[in-house]
Amino acid sequence: MNADGRTRLNHTPEWAALAKHREEFADTRLRDLFAADPQRGDAYTLQVGDLYIDYSKHLVTDETLRLLRELAAARDVFALRDAMFRGERINVTENRAVLHTALRAPRDAVVEVDGENVVPGVHAVLEKMAAFAERVRSGEWTGHTGRRIRNVVNVGIGGSDLGPAMAYEALRAFTDRDLTVRFVSNVDGADLHEATRDLDPAETLFVIASKTFTTIETITNATSARSWVLDALGDQAAVARHFVALSTNAEKVAEFGIDVANMFEFWDWVGGRYSFDSAIGLSLMIAIGPERFRQMLEGFRLVDEHFRSAPAEANAPLLMGLLGIWYGNFHDAQSHAVLPYAHYLSRLTAYLQQLDMESNGKSVQRDGEPVHWQTGPVVWGTPGTNGQHAYYQLIHQGTKLIPADFIGFARPVGELRGGLRGQHDLLMANFFAQTQALAFGKTAEEVRAEGVAEEQVPHRTFPGNRPTTTILARELTPSVLGQLVALYEHKVFVQGAIWNIDSFDQWGVELGKVLAKRVEPALTEGADVPGLDPSTKALVGRYRELRER
Ligand code: F6P
Repeated sequence: MNADGRTRLNHTPEWAALAKHREEFADTRLRDLFAADPQRGDAYTLQVGDLYIDYSKHLVTDETLRLLRELAAARDVFALRDAMFRGERINVTENRAVLHTALRAPRDAVVEVDGENVVPGVHAVLEKMAAFAERVRSGEWTGHTGRRIRNVVNVGIGGSDLGPAMAYEALRAFTDRDLTVRFVSNVDGADLHEATRDLDPAETLFVIASKTFTTIETITNATSARSWVLDALGDQAAVARHFVALSTNAEKVAEFGIDVANMFEFWDWVGGRYSFDSAIGLSLMIAIGPERFRQMLEGFRLVDEHFRSAPAEANAPLLMGLLGIWYGNFHDAQSHAVLPYAHYLSRLTAYLQQLDMESNGKSVQRDGEPVHWQTGPVVWGTPGTNGQHAYYQLIHQGTKLIPADFIGFARPVGELRGGLRGQHDLLMANFFAQTQALAFGKTAEEVRAEGVAEEQVPHRTFPGNRPTTTILARELTPSVLGQLVALYEHKVFVQGAIWNIDSFDQWGVELGKVLAKRVEPALTEGADVPGLDPSTKALVGRYRELRER
């Protein structure tokens, strides 16, 4: 029993039923499941908006899915979902509402936090962003010397970087190609240096993105960017034309010297990793234009509505969350691969790493009790086909079970030259071939039938039974990107709800921040920092010695 009176997750009858089912399932092969049900490839699918989701290549039967749904029902996943949409303070450790869904709510929706409808505020900021984005795009907003803005540099980290940077890459085909848009996040000076070395400060707008406006990496880079601009333009007044802020903290923004009229607001009920459809998306909006940004929000909304209203049997985020539970908690899978067969989604997995791992990398339950089960997986992956020539070997024939999501599109986007468009079928042939090979493998008999020498047979046999989800859409449009991201946001929510953890705090990043502050004087001044452990002390000593050589 938990302190809050709930039965511990792993003591529930639903958990026990799944554990028993897992034992009975041990010898089940995907080959047999498909042989027994020729309709499986059609039946185990969902259409959500533009996303066709095929989960037939999973190690599940109707019974598995039923048991998983029973677990979700017993853990009140939908009740917590409704509480989230209603604006209740489900982020218990920070006592905050969790309302990224309000960021894409229609104008006439009512979502209340402490009795106040937040939707009008959301739309007011969207309008302010749109007006500003249009001014930059049209050349009406000029730099301090009257020159047109040709470069936009987003300075932020974590959720204030990964979302907009990922979406910018994803939607590059829809961007204004006359604008150079870059993202700086790392406090390593090389990041800002490389992002600005070929730019003209008179034509560069810095978008300083920080929810708290206290994050050391961002404030350090923003301060350096300000010096770069002021050194070139020589007038403090230039800051007002070359810096805007995206933040919840007007006081700190003003302290930095940015006119709060040029601050785009969001709210404490938007988590950093759930924020790129808020003001944090300004750089993206400048790049793709307000209309496409709106289309992206509509995509998010479509999946929000689906998550909110689809029955459990047809609810895609619920299903994806439950499949992750099945592998992570009942098959000892430690990781989850996300493999987009789309060059433009090159940053998607990095973005999902924060979304998933910062949300569900927890070992304490909502009531403070330790967890007694596995929680969030390691999320990893890169775009296909590159991964095929790197780490897929381990997925196919290694000793670890790695469930994977394959994301692909029927058509390329943008203005690919004729011949390059033709490469798309080859890309997608790989996409389909990989999930087929992972699911069905190649038996020793099949290898022998090819005349392979007996001693080679074990090496050339593929066990198969590697589970994958295939997500297929026509084209990577702004709306489809919104749909995809919302799908993962809600999947992460489902898993956190079942594991009974707070998916919306991130206390695990605090200790490192505090220690970095403490260690810094030892590096800069050689100060004798009390409490430094012997290993770190010796390392810092070696660092200083090497630096002086
Ligand atoms: O990594 C911790 C974190 O708080 C993230 O959750 C957040 O996205 C990031 O830092 C940046 O925070 P801010 O937007 O306040 O600068």
